Amino acid sequence: RAGDLDYKVADLSLAEFGRKEITLAEHEMPGLMTLRREYSEVRPLAGARISGSLHMTVQTAVLIETLVDLGADVRWASCNIFSTQDHAAAAVVVGRHGTVENPSGVPVFAWKGETLPEYWWCTDRMLRWPGADGTETGPNMILDDGGDATLLIHKAVQYEKTGVVPSLDESDPEYSEEYAVILELLRESLAGDGQFWTRNAPEIIGVTEETTTGVNRLYHLAAAGELLFPAINVNDSVTKSKFDNKYGIRHSLVDGINRGTDVLIGGKVALVAGYGDVGKGAAESLRGQGARVIVSEVDPICALQALMDGYEVARIDEAIERADLVITTTGNKDIIRIDHMQRMKHQAILGNIGHFDNEIDMAGLARIPGVHRIEIKPQVHEWRFPSGRSLIVLSEGRLLNLGNATGHPSFVMSASFANQVIAQIELFTKPNEWDKEVYRLPKHLDEKVAKIHVEALGGELTKLSKDQAEYIGVDVEGPFKPEHYRY
Ligand code: NAI
Repeated sequence: RAGDLDYKVADLSLAEFGRKEITLAEHEMPGLMTLRREYSEVRPLAGARISGSLHMTVQTAVLIETLVDLGADVRWASCNIFSTQDHAAAAVVVGRHGTVENPSGVPVFAWKGETLPEYWWCTDRMLRWPGADGTETGPNMILDDGGDATLLIHKAVQYEKTGVVPSLDESDPEYSEEYAVILELLRESLAGDGQFWTRNAPEIIGVTEETTTGVNRLYHLAAAGELLFPAINVNDSVTKSKFDNKYGIRHSLVDGINRGTDVLIGGKVALVAGYGDVGKGAAESLRGQGARVIVSEVDPICALQALMDGYEVARIDEAIERADLVITTTGNKDIIRIDHMQRMKHQAILGNIGHFDNEIDMAGLARIPGVHRIEIKPQVHEWRFPSGRSLIVLSEGRLLNLGNATGHPSFVMSASFANQVIAQIELFTKPNEWDKEVYRLPKHLDEKVAKIHVEALGGELTKLSKDQAEYIGVDVEGPFKPEHYRY
């Protein structure tokens, strides 16, 4: 804590470096900078207390400061233990007008290389707003990536109702190390102010969710009638998932592999599990380096797309022995199992770029009798089997583009985060227009985000004549496509 600010980051003296990179990023983020110009006088987010859980990178710093310029109070944590860029976190805390000695920016709770208990402590701190009289309140807006902030609040309300937080042991099917950590945190919360979230969750106007995995969680909650507040699915804005998930990954997957290993990708066989938006970007990224790419899919439509794009489609069970690199992109669990790992080539590289670390059975790997884990450097480990063969595992099975590199570049995150800011404004300024359901942004706002980025790249849009617009049944100013159009 310094002055009025409570925070926990690695090293505030990194703030100057962080600020320099944030300033460069601003130029590459025309979506956010246009929204700043458009709204900084109106300040539509004045009164918003936004708790954000999203990778604490340079790009996210530009997002946070945009929310601040639009009037919001903000607290932040990362949504992954390895994804924080410590210089960005420091710069956000110091702020644009503060100093290292007297920071005046935004409370951030994030550093690269958190333990799981530290991660959930940070999430909890980010969600609790200190009041003047020493009491705490909750946020009135959530900005989430992967749904951990939303999950914590929902679990807390659930257990506050019964007054009991269950204990799990390792034989329980629901058990995971991480779930045990969450339950411990909730147990402490219950023992303290036992009704904190029951009191504060009704204040939450809504959540805007960044990624596929978090959106899936929200639809499950809504279908079960358990969603506590309205949600906007930012991921399925076209200018998010068809750009960030694809072109962002096309950039940051090879970046992560290169920074982690520096192994030549050209000529190697790469196996990509999943050919959704992320898988499409991943396969293209690897092929761009000259890899021979094999795709595995469960969905025949995506499998057919992979074939049409020129990739071999095969099952993991069969292709695993041929692969020099194996990358999971499914957002599903149990994709690479122990029996797969034991059949992989010597020094093959194994990594995940989906949101959670359950795509690869890391817990099972650690349990193999006689297996030896050698740290080559942080986020790069050689796992040596008793046979003498070994695997290189990136970011301990967590998303490697953010663990081994710096995630997606600014320009593509500008489109994603412009959708985030618009979604925050929509929810916050029209609080009575939403039910406890999951919504998407209207198409005209998606087209607005796209237009800003087309113009920033020097693209010239063609204008429809009135006659042409009537002929295809759209307005001259758009939206240009019906809702069901797939891009
Ligand atoms: P998606 O739903 O478009 O694609 C996932 C694909 O995996 C689907 O086509 C599905 O059929 C396939 N799949 C599911 N189970 C499978 C299995 N057992 N074997 C083979 N294929 C299987 O989802 P999207 O948008 O591609 O996202 C994937 C994951 O990546 C999510 O967890 C998402 O949150 C995350 N993500 C990560 C980013 C990063 O920067 N690392 C950026 C954006 C998303």
